[in-house]
Amino acid sequence: MAEAPAKPKTAPATSGAALEITDSRTTKTYSVPITDGAIRANDLKQINTGAADDPGLMSYDPAFLNTAACRSAITYIDGDKGILRYRGYPIEQLAENATFLEVAWLLRHGELPNQGEYDQFVHDITYHTYVHENMRKFLEGFRYDAHPMAMLNSTVAGLASFYPSSRNIFDPEERNISIIRLLAKVPTIAAFCYRHVKGLPFIYPDNDLSYVENFLSMVARMSESKYKANPIFTRALEVLFILHADHEQNCSTSAVRAVGSSHVDPFSAISAGIAALFGPLHGGANEQVLRMVGDIGDVKNVPKFIEEVKSGKGQKLMGFGHRVYKSYDPRAKIVKNLADEVFKVVGVDKDLEIALELERIALQDDYFVSRKLYPNVDFYTGLIYRSMSFPTDFFTVLFAIGRMPGWLAQWEEMLLDKEQKIARPRQIYTGPAERPYKSALSAPSRGKSTKQKDALRQ
Ligand code: ACO
Repeated sequence: MAEAPAKPKTAPATSGAALEITDSRTTKTYSVPITDGAIRANDLKQINTGAADDPGLMSYDPAFLNTAACRSAITYIDGDKGILRYRGYPIEQLAENATFLEVAWLLRHGELPNQGEYDQFVHDITYHTYVHENMRKFLEGFRYDAHPMAMLNSTVAGLASFYPSSRNIFDPEERNISIIRLLAKVPTIAAFCYRHVKGLPFIYPDNDLSYVENFLSMVARMSESKYKANPIFTRALEVLFILHADHEQNCSTSAVRAVGSSHVDPFSAISAGIAALFGPLHGGANEQVLRMVGDIGDVKNVPKFIEEVKSGKGQKLMGFGHRVYKSYDPRAKIVKNLADEVFKVVGVDKDLEIALELERIALQDDYFVSRKLYPNVDFYTGLIYRSMSFPTDFFTVLFAIGRMPGWLAQWEEMLLDKEQKIARPRQIYTGPAERPYKSALSAPSRGKSTKQKDALRQ
C-alpha cells in the first residue's frame, strides 16, 4: 500500500502580527491576522460598505502575481537569490548525484528513498511501462504530422478510460498505482508519438534497461536486438529530467491542481498540466528558442533582432525572463555546463554561436538588465535536445516526462490538504447591467423553421 505523504509542515504562525486596515469609505478599522507573511483573502470579506448588496472586499490578482493558492512542502524557490530546492535539497546537488527516479520518490514522499524502497519503486515503474494494445490503435489514428504534445496530451487523458478505478482518488492504493502508471507509461507513450510521426514501428519497453535508457531505446532503436545509448546522452537526459521535475506553482502545476481539485481522476488532471505546458510562454518555449535562433540565421543578424525585441514590434526573446527568477535561473547554469559536455561528444551545435551572442548582448543591454530578464531553463535545453537528434517539436514532450513526478506530488499534496476545496476564483463583473431580451434577428431566423418542425415531428 502506498505510504501517504507526510502532511506539509506549517511554518510557525507570526503570532499576534496583524494588518490594520482603515476603510476610507466607512472610516471603520479592521485587524487582519498575518500568518507566514500572508493575509487570508477571505478575511477581507468582513470589510464592506454596509450596503445590502455588498459581498465584501475581494483581492484582485489577474495571473496570480501575488497570491499564494496553497501551502506546499515540495519545492522551495528564492527567485531573487536564484535558489531552487526539492524537499530542502539544492537542485545542484540532486542534478550532480541523484537519479531521476530517486528524485521522483523524494518529491512525493518528502525523503530520499532507502535501498529497499528504491529497488521496489524501480521495479514497480519498470513493470508498468507497457501500454494496452488499444493505445497503439488510438495513436495510429493521429495524422502523420500531428504535434507530439497534442498526441501526448490526449493519449494521457485517454488512459482514464483504461483505468476506471483510478477515479477512487481517496483510496491510497489506487492513487499509488495511478502514480506508478503515469511515471511508467508516459515515456512509452511519448516514444510511440515520436515513432508515429517518423513512420517507424513502435519499439516496446525493454525491462533490462534503466528508465532513461529504456526511453532512448524506444525512441531510437532500429534493427539492433539491444539498444545501447550513449552514456553522455543518458546522463544528460537524466539531469534534464531532474531539473524539470518540479517548479512549485507554475502554470501547468496550477492547472493540475485546479483540475484535480474537482476530484477528477489523475490522468485527466495530468493531461491538463500537459496542455498548459504546451504553450509557448511555458514549456513550449524550448521549441520556440530553436525556431527563433533558426530565424535569426547568422550571428551578424543578432543586434538587429535584439533591437526588434526591444521595440516591442518583433517577438520576445524566447528563453529569457521568468515570473519568479529575478537574478538567474539556477537550472539554466546547470544546463549550460551540460550543453558543453554534450557538445564535446557531438561537436558544437551550429546555432550555439547565435545563442551565445544573444545571451552576451542581452546580459549587457539595459532593456533586459532593468527588467531582470535572464536566460531561463529553456534557453539551452533545446540546443542539447537537438544535438541528441530530437526534432524541435518533441522538446516539450521531454519537458513533460521530466515534470511528471512534480505534477503527481503536487496533485496528491492538494488532495490530502484539508484546506483545499474545488478551485473557483472570483471575478469582477464588467458586463452590462440587467436588460430585457429583444431579438436582433430577422423574424424567419427565430426559432425553428416550419420545415425543421415538420422533420422533428416525423
Ligand atoms: N523578451 C523581451 N521582453 C520581455 C521578455 C522577453 N523574453 N520577458 C519579459 N519581457 C518584458 C515584458 O515585455 C515587460 O516589459 P514592460 O515592463 O516594458 O511591459 C517586462 O519584461 C515584464 O514582463 P512580464 O511579461 O510582465 O513578465 P511575466 O512574469 O508575466 O512573464 C514570462 C514571464 C512569460 C516567462 C516572460 O518573461 C516571457 O514571455 N518569456 C519568454 C518565453 C519563455 O522563455 N518562457 C519560458 C519560461 S520558463 C518555463 O516556463 C519553464
